[in-house]
Amino acid sequence: MSVLPSTSLCGGAPAPVVRTRALHVVPEAASLPAVVGAGLRVPTLSGDTAYANLDHAASTPALETVRAAVDRALETYSSVHRGAGFASRLTSAWYEQARAEVASFVGARADDSVVFTRTTTDSWALLSKALPSRTTVFVFGTEHHSTLLPWGRFRTVRLPVPQTVEDARALLEEALNDHPSRHRLVVLTAASNVTGEVWPIERFATLAHDHGARIAVDAAQLSAHRRIDLAGWDADYVAFSGHKTYAPYGAGVLAGRSDWLDAGSPYLLGGGATRSVTEEGTTWATGPARHEGGSPNVIGAIALAAACATISRHRDAIEAHEEQLLERLTTGLGEVPGVELLSIFGEDHDRVGVVAFTVDGWDSSLVSQVLSVEHGIGVRDGKFCAHLLVDELLEDPWGERSGTAVRASIGLGSTLEGVDRLVSAVAGLVAQGPSADWTLTESGWAVDGTDPRDVEVERPW
Ligand SMILES: Cc1ncc(COP(=O)(O)O)c(C=O)c1O
Repeated sequence: MSVLPSTSLCGGAPAPVVRTRALHVVPEAASLPAVVGAGLRVPTLSGDTAYANLDHAASTPALETVRAAVDRALETYSSVHRGAGFASRLTSAWYEQARAEVASFVGARADDSVVFTRTTTDSWALLSKALPSRTTVFVFGTEHHSTLLPWGRFRTVRLPVPQTVEDARALLEEALNDHPSRHRLVVLTAASNVTGEVWPIERFATLAHDHGARIAVDAAQLSAHRRIDLAGWDADYVAFSGHKTYAPYGAGVLAGRSDWLDAGSPYLLGGGATRSVTEEGTTWATGPARHEGGSPNVIGAIALAAACATISRHRDAIEAHEEQLLERLTTGLGEVPGVELLSIFGEDHDRVGVVAFTVDGWDSSLVSQVLSVEHGIGVRDGKFCAHLLVDELLEDPWGERSGTAVRASIGLGSTLEGVDRLVSAVAGLVAQGPSADWTLTESGWAVDGTDPRDVEVERPW
């Protein structure tokens, strides 16, 4: 893995040699790590209640360990790879150690590059720019728009939403056979942001490699919940986002094979990404620096490393907690008349804690408003930036497109009580309707009287 550049990235000061202790040296912890804001209370029509956070697939809260790491790093905050002062050297050392922590979190190979980006969307934008010219990209209609769209219309082979894993494999194999090209990339999600269903990445990696193609894995919905294993999967690239991994400080990651990344166009042209600049021309750096032009988001990187270390340390406890909540959620919702859970491969397929559902006769947007205003529950409704997939899953037998769904998603900020509250709120809605009067206005559903969420709150700054 590329970590320490041998010289300062803008030329001048030497690379950091400050010795700091490893960010973690720890045995498996049986307890669940705490999240910031766990005691949050929110206003509802019947008074304050504990917030039921069932919206982790959108963004997770921060971990307490992440906040603590950030607070500590801010004490000595300084520039990265640009200064000779002690604080700068310490900050620079932590930045590279954060890269090493992330490399271990994703199971990177020794020669993989780990580039800090902003988000998964940003990671794919970077990779798409670095692909060798005329690379053909293969992508299923199941993907999130960030993963579906950045490759360019004319070099993308779009595959339909499959019904089984075998179907998906057959579709991909046929497409690979039909589209020979010197460079090919299969892009696949590890866990769907709509249904939470987990794709068997190793099998698709083998298939891609058997046809001489590479594979890039979208782990945006996996990173907080299950192990990412770039080397074990034998995948070529992986991307994920800090704000979905308990580290909402603006950093994301692209990790994987360094050859294309080192040969591809630098993502952000400017200071830090160059090796030399003369009147005659510019030589660009190789390694992560090539794509990290400008002053890096070191606080975001440290936050993400702290999250990775904490998740790794508490892995078993996190998985057990989420399995218990997911079981309760799917069983509970499954027993409510008129509730349909969305699924690509069938309801018994392995999934992380993401469940999209419809309630017969009730607009999804109204359902999510009722859950918030009447019950203090946070979920999301819509098509979740995966329009092709949601349209396909909601298509009725007559071919009509039928709108949107509600999505409940679990994480460390979720509790059994919150899940039970959601199930009984949905059951109550089906049995008796909402408790308040709701009207559909031009800007969406509005509750009769004052919306309890419209309270005046002081700005945080
Ligand atoms: C599966 C998946 N991929 C990609 C993204 C894009 O992530 P970001 O918004 O952090 O770029 C998301 C976000 O919801 C997602 O769920």
